[in-house]
Amino acid sequence: MSELPEGVERRQIEGSEHLATCGEPVYGEPTDSEWRAWNPHRSKLGAMLESGFETGLEGGEDERVLYLGAASGTTVSHVADFAGPTYAVEFAPRPTRDLLSVADSRPRLFPLLKDARKPDTYAHIVESDLDVIVQDVATRGQAAVACTNRQFLAPDGRLLLSIKARSEDVTRDPEAVFDEVVGEIEAEYEVLERRRLDPYHEDHLGVVARPLPE
Ligand SMILES: C[S@@+](CC[C@H](N)C(=O)[O-])C[C@H]1O[C@@H](n2cnc3c(N)ncnc32)[C@H](O)[C@@H]1O
Repeated sequence: MSELPEGVERRQIEGSEHLATCGEPVYGEPTDSEWRAWNPHRSKLGAMLESGFETGLEGGEDERVLYLGAASGTTVSHVADFAGPTYAVEFAPRPTRDLLSVADSRPRLFPLLKDARKPDTYAHIVESDLDVIVQDVATRGQAAVACTNRQFLAPDGRLLLSIKARSEDVTRDPEAVFDEVVGEIEAEYEVLERRRLDPYHEDHLGVVARPLPE
């Protein structure tokens, strides 16, 4: 089992063991004093950590993260609990309103109402040489989003990508979709690990990758 980042622990909460971070509750998750459970069934990154992926996440205030597809903040709230500056991109206004509330108690979380396919629209806000990109956009063109946002990642940074097969093509065999999407991201990244996120998320692939040398 790989190490958890600093600020993420396995804790007994309400009688069972959970991954947990310290922060204000967001989605009705069980809590124990300042700790709140991180539900891997609600979070692809949580599922990757629970499944022992070598994410390269270290945690701590120096770790800088770009999160693509933040929705209303279920997962990115945990990331902002354990990491440093966390830029959270979401293009739908409704979930972004909830994300703003999640950021109220998290001074290191920066919600951005932006389209992840257009990184030029947030390049003036997001730092470069980031340690991690987490991507969970679940829309067609997931490889293109990963490739076009590579510009923000440090040479030794990590892409933690969740690929949803049905977002690319509902009719095709998920494995064929995964191979195609991974093949596309290999134009920009070296894939270090790829595994399905069962039993937490059906027909999703988790990928850890690092940028290819320029
Ligand atoms: C599966 S949900 C994300 C769930 C979230 N990552 C979590 O675990 O809490 C996918 C989200 O990506 C957003 N999204 C899809 N395409 C996007 C794009 N091009 N730019 C920004 N957000 C996008 C959707 O609006 C949706 O909220």
